[in-house]
Amino acid sequence: MERHPLNLTINGTPYAVETEFRKTLADTIREDCGLTGTHVGCEHGVCGACTVIVDGKAVRSCLMFGHQAEGMEIETVEGLEQDGVLHVLQEAFMDHHALQCGYCTPGFLMLAKGVVERGEDLPEEELRHLLSSNLCRCTGYQNIIAAVRAAIVAFREKAAGGVEQTA
Ligand code: FES
Ligand code: FES
Repeated sequence: MERHPLNLTINGTPYAVETEFRKTLADTIREDCGLTGTHVGCEHGVCGACTVIVDGKAVRSCLMFGHQAEGMEIETVEGLEQDGVLHVLQEAFMDHHALQCGYCTPGFLMLAKGVVERGEDLPEEELRHLLSSNLCRCTGYQNIIAAVRAAIVAFREKAAGGVEQTA
């Protein structure tokens, strides 16, 4: 199939590749840009394993063509760690045992990044609703919910430059 030049920006780094017009963003990120942290499960928009952030919004990269993302800012799980320091979400997933096989984890991290970095104190039902859009076959979800809650608090503390006062 004919390939066409494509310029992507992923985690702030430019990638100049050549891909078919019908290649998904998920496959483009993995196969052409070499960033295999984004996982592919169902390939039809159900599991959320392929979730990345495009121009600030969490999207399922198996439902988008790579060429549709030209000129947009893409964030993948590889961009969470900065200068050797894990993102508060990554720390919280480890601390709360929110992963087992880890296949779903990059998708959950990218799904939750927005709510964590907005420091939103989401009601339990809303947080559960948000996280219910991705599937995990291992954890039973409770630890994922606990980890995201902890990451929201940790992010707020970090942004405030210290320990959050609850009193
Ligand atoms: S692989 Fe994209 S939603 Fe399942
Ligand atoms: S940790 Fe295995 S699918 Fe979620």
